[in-house]
Amino acid sequence: MLIRVTQHGELVLEAAEDFRRFSISIDQSAGEVARAALTRIARFDGDQYAWVRQDGLRSLSPLAGESSWEEGLARMLDFAATKGWLDPDGAIRAHIENAEALARQGREALPGVNAQCFKDAMRNLAGGVALVTTGEGNRRSGLTVTAVTSVSAEPPCLLVCVNTSSASHDAILANGAFAVSLLGARHEEVALRFAGVGGIKGAERFLGTDWVPGPTRSPMLTDALCAMDCEVLMHQVVGSHGIFIARVVSTRNGAGEPLVNFQGKLRAFCGN
Ligand SMILES: Cc1cc2nc3c(=O)[nH]c(=O)nc-3n(C[C@H](O)[C@H](O)[C@H](O)COP(=O)(O)O)c2cc1C
Repeated sequence: MLIRVTQHGELVLEAAEDFRRFSISIDQSAGEVARAALTRIARFDGDQYAWVRQDGLRSLSPLAGESSWEEGLARMLDFAATKGWLDPDGAIRAHIENAEALARQGREALPGVNAQCFKDAMRNLAGGVALVTTGEGNRRSGLTVTAVTSVSAEPPCLLVCVNTSSASHDAILANGAFAVSLLGARHEEVALRFAGVGGIKGAERFLGTDWVPGPTRSPMLTDALCAMDCEVLMHQVVGSHGIFIARVVSTRNGAGEPLVNFQGKLRAFCGN
């Protein structure tokens, strides 16, 4: 079971029937909101653990009261008791998974490489180039990305990674939506403009190209190889970047050869 604390301080129980693990995942951007939300059902024990009250857990589970779920929970409690993960009031100890804790563990366990080493390695990963765009009219913003990955087919979900220093990061959070337009070889100039080359910012980046709003109102590039309009489901900050996992609500298919980023250069894909 995983109790997810969203950026808005909602508590969501995931994998309610998986009694083999019990952890808490906190959206780091939620800060004090998350802490306050979690104290409704749990008591913090340092940064890495919290003791979750059983009534609090039941209040989150749509399966509470069903015999098979209650039997599974009883087995989990028996096991927790043998490990010392049950306090005298019956609260269950959960591990808090978050980026900071993971980063701390990583630092303690092994030496890391510096950012330049990492970039030198990653530049060898050839990647399709896309625009991530959000907002309407003169509140539109967007950036060029390669960090787009398919996550799930059912439901159709993808993820994008956006630097938290980008204006688009907070705009996506505020709008709860964005579009991804996959670029073709003919879009090199647009890709550079949305990467900030020439210093053009905000809605001005959209001038000179045609856009159509998707169902979320996010702008989709009309002549993209494919454009997908997306509704944000999850957001997690890891180091410099925010990861947005989003459900694809609409697609527009186009045609053409892709634009590819490889070893620091934008290139036309040579398919044969
Ligand atoms: C090929 C290419 C790929 C990029 N991929 C990403 C990416 O995946 N995520 C990201 O945050 N920035 C990425 N960038 C950098 C942003 O496009 C750039 O920093 C942009 O200016 C950010 O928008 P802002 O000026 O509104 O902050 C990429 C740039 C290029 C040229």
